[in-house]
Amino acid sequence: MDKPIVDSGLLGDTKSRDYAQKLSLFNRFAAPELRNAIASLSLEPGMQVLDAGCGTGEALQWFRDALGVNGIVIGLDLSSPHLAVARAQAQIDVLVAQADMTKPPLSARSFDLVWSVNTINHLRDPDASVATLSTLLRPGGRIALGQSSFLPDMYFAWDSRLERLTNEAVRQYYRDKYSLDERDLTAVRASVGILRRAGLKDVQAQTFNIDRVSPLNPSDEDYLLEAIFRATWGARLRPYLADTDYAELVKLCDPLESGFALRRPDFHFLQTFTLAIGIA
Ligand SMILES: C[S@@+](CC[C@H](N)C(=O)[O-])C[C@H]1O[C@@H](n2cnc3c(N)ncnc32)[C@H](O)[C@@H]1O
Repeated sequence: MDKPIVDSGLLGDTKSRDYAQKLSLFNRFAAPELRNAIASLSLEPGMQVLDAGCGTGEALQWFRDALGVNGIVIGLDLSSPHLAVARAQAQIDVLVAQADMTKPPLSARSFDLVWSVNTINHLRDPDASVATLSTLLRPGGRIALGQSSFLPDMYFAWDSRLERLTNEAVRQYYRDKYSLDERDLTAVRASVGILRRAGLKDVQAQTFNIDRVSPLNPSDEDYLLEAIFRATWGARLRPYLADTDYAELVKLCDPLESGFALRRPDFHFLQTFTLAIGIA
């Protein structure tokens, strides 16, 4: 039997796929920690940086700030809706282009840094893709793979059971949605090995903590309510939880309920952002 024609990424990315709102909410929410991660790279004015899988493009502006007017910042993404947001907020001297980052239409040996956040795990062949991206680096240039949630996220510090069941339900929902086995998602946590197999040198990793406690500021509450409670959890988890657990979760996630999680005095959200870096 013929194999089905694969026309999307491992996690369903296509030119028309749109989850721009989730991306913008995450980048606004985690901006302090993401900017710290960029600052840790000690970039120098005038360097040339590629953001591969730039999404809605918030990092492009942070790189522009770090590199000064003589630096060059380029963002590549597949998705037209994501690029529309990136272009709308990009400064005039930031180039945003639509392309498949596994076949980048860019000159070899021309970048000081290739930055790619939460994207390598969307590709069908992460090893080959990172090897291709590394050909864009000048000698001594670096590739930085950023990935959130190497460590399990914590939302309900007071109810570890419901937290565990919810996290498992989300993973199962996504595995079913994209017909994936747990091992197909290995790339989420495998950046160091991917960089080493692509021939990068001096591979290092550093993890930044994203901690939020109540009272939350509006952008933190927006991200947790809209991107997590509504757009990642919500009714889609109904088939994956027991009735009583689902009812409990719905109450915690509803701003009209007295027990709304984000306004509890003991609310503590913890997520990690891990940057793995290799040198060409
Ligand atoms: C989870 S998002 C991360 C976006 C951004 N780096 C961020 O941290 O907000 C993954 C992005 O990779 C893009 N993408 C997926 N496969 C791609 C490919 N083959 N070439 C270019 N972009 C791709 C998607 O369109 C999406 O914008």
